[in-house]
Amino acid sequence: MYKLAPSILAADFSQLGDALRAVETAGAHYIHFDVMDGIFVPNISFGMPVLKSIRKCTSLAFDVHLMIVEPEKYIEPFAEAGADIISVHWEAASNADHCIKKIKSLGKRAGLVISPNTPVKDILPFVGQVDLVLIMSVEPGFGSQKLLPFTLNKAEYLANYIQQKGFKTEIEMDGGIDMSNVRSVLDSGVNIVVAGTSIFGGDIAKNVQGFLDIFASCEGAL
Ligand code: DX5
Ligand code: ZN
Repeated sequence: MYKLAPSILAADFSQLGDALRAVETAGAHYIHFDVMDGIFVPNISFGMPVLKSIRKCTSLAFDVHLMIVEPEKYIEPFAEAGADIISVHWEAASNADHCIKKIKSLGKRAGLVISPNTPVKDILPFVGQVDLVLIMSVEPGFGSQKLLPFTLNKAEYLANYIQQKGFKTEIEMDGGIDMSNVRSVLDSGVNIVVAGTSIFGGDIAKNVQGFLDIFASCEGAL
């Protein structure tokens, strides 16, 4: 099943509650929550207080993407603030195994994220332990970038590995995805699509429906 995870990084922060209600009503599956610390990435976004305050605005799962150093320190606070999925960057975690175990011990789904230049091979030992692998299709830190096409090959490689091993691990992709390239993203084996600019730029309901229609046509082709 293909899932759409709108990234609220691209939403109007002065109307965050309305944006959440709009994507939920339109049929999105998750809310993607991009946490940036200004150290791991050259940008600062939002954190636990914002997540806590918008938790009541939607029943959708919060898919929290930690683009921060020392992510292990913030797993519990984000779990308490309302995260449902917590994904840490391989490049930032001093001990990925510890992070994954900690997230799961709190009853949350665990994700491992790799930036564009990190080989999939680096994380193979963890793929069976996580609920999802998030493959960044842009350099982490900013929305509205162009998808890097070589990252689709990484998704293909990972999808084949997961199939060979018989794992249930899902593949998420994040960055530069819009209705012109999402079919190629799905064809590469990705089943969770993060989209910010292409959802929150313009008519939100129409944008969500556009993705869902493409998902349905691709699912029908399976
Ligand atoms: C990058 C962010 C973005 C955002 C989605 O660190 O993670 O990828 O979620 O960005 P756009 O606007 O490209 O969909
Ligand atoms: Zn993200």
